[in-house]
Amino acid sequence: MTPRNIVYAVADGIARLTIQRPDKLNALNRETVGEIRVALEAFGADPAARALILTGSGEKAFVAGADIAELAEQTPQGGKDYSLYGQGVLALLETSVKPTIAAINGFALGGGLEIALACHIRLASENAKLGLPEVTLGIIPGFGGTQRLPRLVGKGKALEIILSGEPVDAREAHRIGLVNRVVPLAELLPEAEKLARTILSRGPVAVRFAIEAVGRGLEMPAAEGHFLEATLFGLLTTSEDMKEGTRAFLEKPRRSPTFKGR
Ligand code: COA
Repeated sequence: MTPRNIVYAVADGIARLTIQRPDKLNALNRETVGEIRVALEAFGADPAARALILTGSGEKAFVAGADIAELAEQTPQGGKDYSLYGQGVLALLETSVKPTIAAINGFALGGGLEIALACHIRLASENAKLGLPEVTLGIIPGFGGTQRLPRLVGKGKALEIILSGEPVDAREAHRIGLVNRVVPLAELLPEAEKLARTILSRGPVAVRFAIEAVGRGLEMPAAEGHFLEATLFGLLTTSEDMKEGTRAFLEKPRRSPTFKGR
């Protein structure tokens, strides 16, 4: 079935998912979250889609949070179930073995910031404003924000953002490490695409293992993470890509490697 609130398309190895509810600043209603889940599952299963760029439609908002009209009707058990459901959908971004990039083109509030936090890399436009305003509504973030934000910016900054409910602008988000880079709005998608293409030019198995080493390593005691790294490092020495990458460097004249993802 054609989704109503997102556009998902794959071209030249890159999947682009655009959240599109322009009259509601791309706010996430339940239907939209379901459509995002279907698109992320398609992305995960599609060998032609090797990286994902996630953005919002228009020039004002990435995603202005969960749909407040729906939130107003939540019940305790329903709220918990919805939170667990949303966490599961966003886990598809975080645990993706293919790179996921959030291109934050304006307001990234509540569930919008939580989507961006679940991506591997965040680029923001100069007009972006990022925050977790849930406490202004009498709730707390429910799609992973209380867990991912402190891991990214530290406990103190995360609590300031969560407890005040005040958004930070793009420059401050960059200063505290919440976004990797800030660019003019017109350059946001081209920059995200350029970054995706750079990653796609690298050894594909190495890129996958690097994502796994960082992502899974962060969930482990450091010693176990180091051990995982060493195991994956050793495994990569058996890959055709490693042979090709090192040979291309050592040959005279030096040449660019042609990786096969094996
Ligand atoms: N849920 C539902 N509708 C939303 C929404 C949300 N999270 N965010 C914006 N909208 C709707 C508005 O109700 C409005 O619709 P309407 O014209 O039918 O009334 C439309 O989107 C435009 O928003 P508006 O508030 O008029 O734009 P603005 O430029 O004055 O303010 C924001 C922009 C982002 C500051 C403001 O919309 C806002 O604070 N949104 C809610 C953010 C939030 O608390 N999200 C977290 C939820 S957990």
